[in-house]
Amino acid sequence: MSFVSHLECSRTGARTAHDAFHTISDAGAPLLVRYDLEAIKTALTKETLAGRAPDMWRYLELLPLASRDDIVSLGEQMTPLVPLSRMSRELGAGEILVKDEGRLPTGSFKSRGIAVAVSMARAFGVKHIAMPTAGNAGAALAAYCARAGIESTVFCPDDAPETTIREIAYHGARTYRVNGLINHCGQIVASGTAETGWLDLSTLKEPYRIEGKKTMGLELAEQLDWELPDVIFYPTGGGTGLIGMWKAFEELGAMGWIDGKRPRMVAVQSTRCGPLVKAFDAGHEEVMEPWEPADTLIHGVRVPKPFGDRLCLATMRVSGGFGSMVDDDGVIAARAMIAREEGVHLSIEGAACFVAYRQELEGGRVRPSDRAVLFNCASGLKAELPPVQTCIDRNKPVDFTKFA
Ligand SMILES: Cc1ncc(COP(=O)(O)O)c(C=O)c1O
Repeated sequence: MSFVSHLECSRTGARTAHDAFHTISDAGAPLLVRYDLEAIKTALTKETLAGRAPDMWRYLELLPLASRDDIVSLGEQMTPLVPLSRMSRELGAGEILVKDEGRLPTGSFKSRGIAVAVSMARAFGVKHIAMPTAGNAGAALAAYCARAGIESTVFCPDDAPETTIREIAYHGARTYRVNGLINHCGQIVASGTAETGWLDLSTLKEPYRIEGKKTMGLELAEQLDWELPDVIFYPTGGGTGLIGMWKAFEELGAMGWIDGKRPRMVAVQSTRCGPLVKAFDAGHEEVMEPWEPADTLIHGVRVPKPFGDRLCLATMRVSGGFGSMVDDDGVIAARAMIAREEGVHLSIEGAACFVAYRQELEGGRVRPSDRAVLFNCASGLKAELPPVQTCIDRNKPVDFTKFA
């Protein structure tokens, strides 16, 4: 039995019954899943939760699935909080914790949202799902659809990371490179829906991916013993994580599981694609025009105009957060530096969060006493690494003086 009470239009508040796989609201806005939180409070205690398996399904009451039997899983274990202790010392900063989402199946946090959405789709009898992707979401969709026996079709920008494009195809999705950006891929998916009958699983065009992403916030709260950090840096493209985590904190607050303290939510974007930061700084409630040219190498944030722009901007604002644009070259240098000095292999998006943190610490929007959580949303191994040119000829004497 699920604790879902209804679906709600994020713009008008209008209610929709939770009786089929709904996509967007009648007003054309994202739908949000609402729960009977009072009933959950009675059904679930922190003590019961503590005894459950360390995976994202431990929060089942706060997820839309009607039964455990509906779960499509590849083993979504809880992800660790890894301190960047040396960086903290060198910067004279407070605690910097990396939430390492690269440990999840398919190597990224996309597993969380896609696992819930595909589970719901299968429960509602969906046979075919399509999606535009910067890479990681498509890889997760292909894998979870393979698991669920659902057909998948994925469209990605032709310059998306090669590893993820191949990963998508390898899991059996029909995979297409599109000579454009993610919004162009999204237009193809939307325009094919009537003819193909596929389900459009684009970011926020259905209500369930956000519920899966919400588990990042639930998990973070539980790992920090129900005291939220001061600030969260999140690499923001479509914004599901930002919105999902905030939703988690609101639900935990309404259940009385956390106090009134909330983290400032910082949307990290690039100087080469920063539509949310620009809109936030201009005091707008939505992104007024698509960012151009969106040529950042931080692929996860290369979304010129997110569909959930209003929800992202509202989250940044009500949390007392802000947006931070980072320079791509600085991100690439920081990623290499952290790999060498901390042993932590961040994705480019994760490194972007570190650079944003560092610049905001210098600029004073983050205090040295703040406990900060940076989201590393994917495994560093997804991105290309510099080649190694040093060789040894085993038939010649080795000059060990250079190792001394
Ligand atoms: C590694 C990585 N980080 C961040 C993002 C952005 O995530 P969201 O759509 O939740 O803003 C993506 C999305 O593609 C991603 O793959």
